[in-house]
Amino acid sequence: MFFKKKKEQTIEKIDPNNLPLHIGVIMDGNGRWAAKRHLPRSAGHRAGADTFEKIVKYCDKIGIKAITAYAFSTENWNRPKAEVDNLMNLLYNYLLMAEEKFAGTNVILRVIGDRSALSDKINEAIDHAIGVTDGNTGIVLNMALNYGGRDEIVRATRIAAENVKNGMISPDEIDGEYLDKLMYTADNPPVDLIIRPSGEKRLSNFLLWQAAYAEFWYSDINWPDFSEKDMERAIIDYQKRNRRFGKV
Ligand code: IPE
Ligand code: IPE
Ligand code: MG
Repeated sequence: MFFKKKKEQTIEKIDPNNLPLHIGVIMDGNGRWAAKRHLPRSAGHRAGADTFEKIVKYCDKIGIKAITAYAFSTENWNRPKAEVDNLMNLLYNYLLMAEEKFAGTNVILRVIGDRSALSDKINEAIDHAIGVTDGNTGIVLNMALNYGGRDEIVRATRIAAENVKNGMISPDEIDGEYLDKLMYTADNPPVDLIIRPSGEKRLSNFLLWQAAYAEFWYSDINWPDFSEKDMERAIIDYQKRNRRFGKV
C-alpha cells in the first residue's frame, strides 16, 4: 500500500510587474443571478452594482491603470421600458451618491458612449460624479453608457471625414493610429484584458476596435457573484498568456 504524495500547493500570486494596463469588463448575468434566487431582475442589477463598486476598488488597490465597465449598451434600449427605467434609476442614484461611493478611493471617473440619448437628469448626475473624482490620480474608470463599439467606430469615421472635408488632413493620413486617437479610449493605455462572466462568449458590441489584441477571459459566474478572487484569477491567467502580436 502506498500513499500518493500530496501535490504541493502553489499559491499563485499576481505579478505586480506584469499587470494588464487596461481591463474591460462585460458586467453580464445580473438577470440570471436574480432568476436563480426567484428575485426580480432589478435585484440582480442592484447586486451587480455592488459588485461593480467592489471590483473597481480592488483594481485601484492593485494598481490597474484603467478599467472600462460595460454598464449599458446601445442595444440595451431594446429591453422592456420598465427594465430600462430601472437601470437608469440605479445609475442615477449611484452617480448622485458619488461623494460616498468614491470616498477613500483614487478613482477618476469617465463616461464613454453616446451621452446625447441619456436624459438631462442623468447627464447632470454624470457631470456631478465626474466632478467629484476630479483631482484623483488613480485608476481611470470608464463607465460605458449607451456605448456600442460600432457606434464608436462610426463616430470616429465621421470626425475623420469632417477633418478631410475641412482640409485639416488628407485621406491618406487616416490610419490606425489616427483613428485610435478618435476613440473614446484615446487617452487610456491599450486594453490588455477583456473579462466576460455569465458564460457568454461574445463581445456584444464591446470595445470592438480596442479588442484587436486584447486577451479574453470567460467564466460562468454571474456578475453579482464575481469576487476579488475571480479578478485575481483572471489576471493570473492573463499573466500566463504568450502575447505574440503576430510575431513568432
Ligand atoms: C447585465 O446583466 C446588465 C446589463 C446588460 C445592463 P443582464 O441583465 O444582461 O443579465 P442576464 O444576461 O439577463 O442574466
Ligand atoms: C452586454 O450584455 C451589455 C452589458 C453588460 C451592459 P447583454 O446581456 O446586453 O448582451 P447579450 O444581449 O447577451 O449579447
Ligand atoms: Mg445579459
